Amino acid sequence: MIQLLYVSGASREMSERDLDDILHKSRANNRRNDITGMLMWADGVFIQILEGEADRVRRLVSRIQGDPRHCYFMVMHEQTSDERLFSDWSMGFKKLDPGRQADSDVFALSKAALAERVGDHDSGMFFDIVLAFSRDFLSEVHA
Ligand SMILES: Cc1cc2nc3c(=O)[nH]c(=O)nc-3n(C[C@H](O)[C@H](O)[C@H](O)COP(=O)(O)O)c2cc1C
Repeated sequence: MIQLLYVSGASREMSERDLDDILHKSRANNRRNDITGMLMWADGVFIQILEGEADRVRRLVSRIQGDPRHCYFMVMHEQTSDERLFSDWSMGFKKLDPGRQADSDVFALSKAALAERVGDHDSGMFFDIVLAFSRDFLSEVHA
């Protein structure tokens, strides 16, 4: 199984309805393809972790990459794993609040990555930061 993290920039304004459409479709498709993950959004930036069987994730990634709703699509990190990180989430969703410290770190890093590609040596760190952040979020939700 692989876990993959990408960031991208919205190609236009996204309303609540636009985000709901993406999530609704993603959850239905991902359930069918045994793909799990997490999508984060703030102020024009998408950050998504996808996990599942390698071929299925890669096929999904090329479909998502071609989606006209976003651009500057960049895979930041990919790793293999035996264990799922988001086993309960066909697609978790979190709107970042740049006023909150933990959120603003992830947001700033993602924006910087979009503006100036983070070097390969930093990609593991980037993944760890996003993951630590999404774990905080998941524990809040389950609390
Ligand atoms: C930021 C973003 C994240 C997306 N994430 C997923 C996803 O996790 N799973 C998925 O099936 N589609 C996702 N999509 C939608 C795909 O790009 C595509 O529209 C959809 O998979 C097409 O599904 P269909 O062939 O069943 O109509 C995402 C789109 C965007 C813009």
